[in-house]
Amino acid sequence: MPEQQIPNEHQQPVVIIGAGHSGVAVAAGLRTRGWRGRILLLDAEKETPYERPPLSKELLKAGAPDESTLLRKEKFFLDKGIERLGGLSVESIDRSGKAVILSDGSRHAYHRLVIATGSRARALTVPGADLPGVLALRTKDDALELKRVLVADARVAIIGAGYIGLEVAAAAAARGCQVTVLEFQDRVMSRVTSAPVSCFFENIHREKGVRFVFGAAVTAIEGVGRAEQVQTADGARFPADVVLAGIGVVPNQEIAEAAGLNCKDGILVDDHGRTSEPEIYAAGDVTRFTSRIDGQSQRLECIQNAMAQADSVAAHITGQTPSEPEIPWFRTVQHGVRLQTAGVRHPDDDIIVRGTPADGKFSVVYLRKGRLSAVDTVGGLSDFRPAKKLIAQAAAIDPALAADPSIPLTGAALQPSY
Ligand code: NAI
Repeated sequence: MPEQQIPNEHQQPVVIIGAGHSGVAVAAGLRTRGWRGRILLLDAEKETPYERPPLSKELLKAGAPDESTLLRKEKFFLDKGIERLGGLSVESIDRSGKAVILSDGSRHAYHRLVIATGSRARALTVPGADLPGVLALRTKDDALELKRVLVADARVAIIGAGYIGLEVAAAAAARGCQVTVLEFQDRVMSRVTSAPVSCFFENIHREKGVRFVFGAAVTAIEGVGRAEQVQTADGARFPADVVLAGIGVVPNQEIAEAAGLNCKDGILVDDHGRTSEPEIYAAGDVTRFTSRIDGQSQRLECIQNAMAQADSVAAHITGQTPSEPEIPWFRTVQHGVRLQTAGVRHPDDDIIVRGTPADGKFSVVYLRKGRLSAVDTVGGLSDFRPAKKLIAQAAAIDPALAADPSIPLTGAALQPSY
């Protein structure tokens, strides 16, 4: 764009708090969309921004290098003139002065502020949870600490059978650890999937020697000087050299709350990523928003959402149109078997199993009032792309056709649009 046509506003500073997927994508998106002003990307971690999904998978493998997968190379930030300041946390937001104040006392003025602070591992709060040997997994440092202690024959007690708990269980079992998973609910991954998929993955883990205790309410971690056993409400005790808590995440919304922004288990944002304060945006895990698909209030913990919101924010700040967002999707790999989900299921959706779990490859189709809301694909991806398209169209589905894996998923749509 010729210099004289660049709006004055585009020469102003944007400060982004948080250098995860969404924060980095906002910075990159602003430059792509022609923002000329200072872009300052702040993060409490010192590391060059990196991807989190490999931390619970590839990084934990025996012999894998202790390297993280970078979101962008250092050169990218230099070339794009994106200033990074790592290792300092933002203490507060001065809304009236339009500046952020960092832990070293420095102030950085903003024209627009983007909060992309993500989420943190929910802390275990039972007595003994602060003993050495009780770990969580969120950062690269967490992953490296965990990797060091996942040695052959180590007794590993994992609290929570969600994505983190199960991915770590798989990595630990592969390294010869004795793994016990203690889960509050009556099946694995109950937050994110249905019983047939839970049952399938539980069996895979059991075949690899992982032990499960369901309905387990952890009441204490016991040990002298370090964690030695986990106690549950029924009085049972599980000896452990390592305890990993994978019991969900909480949004890092405290600085937004302190600045008076509307928050409710997440910073509330609209479709453009705007918070209740017009000059402040938020993106990624830390946000709560209304789903365009089903009108429900939601907080999504996935890269797709982080990227889509980042694009909306960069577009709105620069006065441009965002790209059409992808349908949310999620992925986990356990013992080499992939579960990939398109869409967001509700617990009361109708379910149709497509294929035979015993074959190691099947899908589960979720219908809400007869329309496709989500699809889990296990051990194969052939239904994944069609599922995303049909979910975006809220396609009505014939349940009998959807149950027949010899018919493409698109063939089960009652209003085919292909
Ligand atoms: P999660 O919400 O997936 O699972 C937590 C599990 O812990 C649930 O099954 C819950 O019932 C159980 N739980 C909660 N409190 C408990 C307690 N006191 N005792 C026993 N069980 C308890 O959360 P998770 O696994 O910690 O994952 C954290 C984050 O990491 C999520 O945002 C997730 O999306 C992300 N992640 C995503 C991955 C992926 O997409 N593949 C892989 C790894 C992590």
